[in-house]
Amino acid sequence: MSKEPLASQSSSHRDRRILITGGAGFIGSNFVHHWCKRYPNDRVVVLDALTYAGNLNNLAALQNQPQFRFVQGNICDAVLVQNLLQEEAIDTVAHFAAESHVDRSILNPGSFIQTNVVGTFTLLEAFRHHWQTDVAQVGRDRYRFLHVSTDEVYGSLAPEDPAFCETTPYAPNSPYSASKAGSDHLARAYFHTYGMPTLITNCSNNYGPYHFPEKLIPLMCINILLGKPLPVYGDGQNVRDWLYVGDHCSALDRVIHAGQPGETYNIGGNNEVKNIELVRLICQVMDERGPDLPVSPAENLITFVQDRPGHDRRYAINASKIQRELGWMPQVTVEQGLRHTIEWYLHNRDWWQPLLSEDYQRYYQQVYAAPEGLSQEYVVQR
Ligand code: NAD
Ligand code: TYD
Repeated sequence: MSKEPLASQSSSHRDRRILITGGAGFIGSNFVHHWCKRYPNDRVVVLDALTYAGNLNNLAALQNQPQFRFVQGNICDAVLVQNLLQEEAIDTVAHFAAESHVDRSILNPGSFIQTNVVGTFTLLEAFRHHWQTDVAQVGRDRYRFLHVSTDEVYGSLAPEDPAFCETTPYAPNSPYSASKAGSDHLARAYFHTYGMPTLITNCSNNYGPYHFPEKLIPLMCINILLGKPLPVYGDGQNVRDWLYVGDHCSALDRVIHAGQPGETYNIGGNNEVKNIELVRLICQVMDERGPDLPVSPAENLITFVQDRPGHDRRYAINASKIQRELGWMPQVTVEQGLRHTIEWYLHNRDWWQPLLSEDYQRYYQQVYAAPEGLSQEYVVQR
């Protein structure tokens, strides 16, 4: 799918020893698969706490591969992280571990501060000690610390505003985006203060296989398969810029191999779509591809619900810097990516069915029923 210069990338690659935090989550696990396939001689160590969003089934295919190791643990555990960096002689960190869902951050912001801010700080500190100890012996060039972040740190755009670029001022609006903004500033400060080779990426909304069914696209796919309402927040006119997860992984690969330490790169899919249009497209593809849907046409399930508090109106990424400097461009249109993703959810019921646990149901009751929740009532407007 990717048109990036594969030959030059693999020829410039030297064997790495990479620690991937959050590698059992959605993007992290896609990235682990990408990396293991592309660089089979690398040592790949995943550190993941296996919160509700972490799933070892995402990595099942790799469990017996000798170059791969999974460690269950918390990025806030400084001793564990330090020991792991040393014991595995890690030279590259790809940091994905985070609390990642805006709605959950509205209900429970504390865990976002803990993991996203304190956890990132703990990792940066451990890596600094590890890097400073080793740097005299093996040289600076060997090390990289990639901090994976979000475009949500830039706040909300009006319809006529230009897309976010790397110099757009930070203006986070949710506890989630504020916690990611804090961690971005720390990663940046470690480069400026200590010269540590950190790289930051800010990307738009991802979608694809292994996406936990609390985010818009997998939630809609699964609710259609179960014949449940499709809750669209507010008027459905909010815009997101959709990035296929495979495109995101190839961009991160480029940044690790060719990015300048201390730099930030925005990564986007060039796919701005209004939520309601996206949901209608999912319904249309599901009607075509999903035989025996409980409700057909699936659009009959669309239900407008009370808006998310502080709901950002529009995100859009200007990805010209990574295109110009690193030769990366997204390859997948939202229509192609959605078709692929929908097929995946149709054929992987065994993956998502067990995720609809009691905890999951309890979470949804909170979102839709609690007085301080996001949506107190359904307003059906078909
Ligand atoms: P996810 O919620 O699917 O996965 C997060 C993973 O981190 C899980 O496996 C979880 O178990 C693990 N984790 C959580 N807290 C941990 C802790 N304290 N210690 C160790 N592991 C912990 O998230 P995702 O969607 O894959 O996002 C990955 C990264 O990309 C995050 O940093 C997120 O902010 C960023 N991002 C995501 C999107 C998106 O659209 N999903 C967009 C932009 C940026
Ligand atoms: P989401 O997948 O939660 O990502 P983010 O909030 O990080 O952008 O939501 C994407 C968009 O879809 C966002 O505008 C909120 C909206 N949305 C709904 O309308 N209904 C839903 O059930 C969910 C989860 C999201």
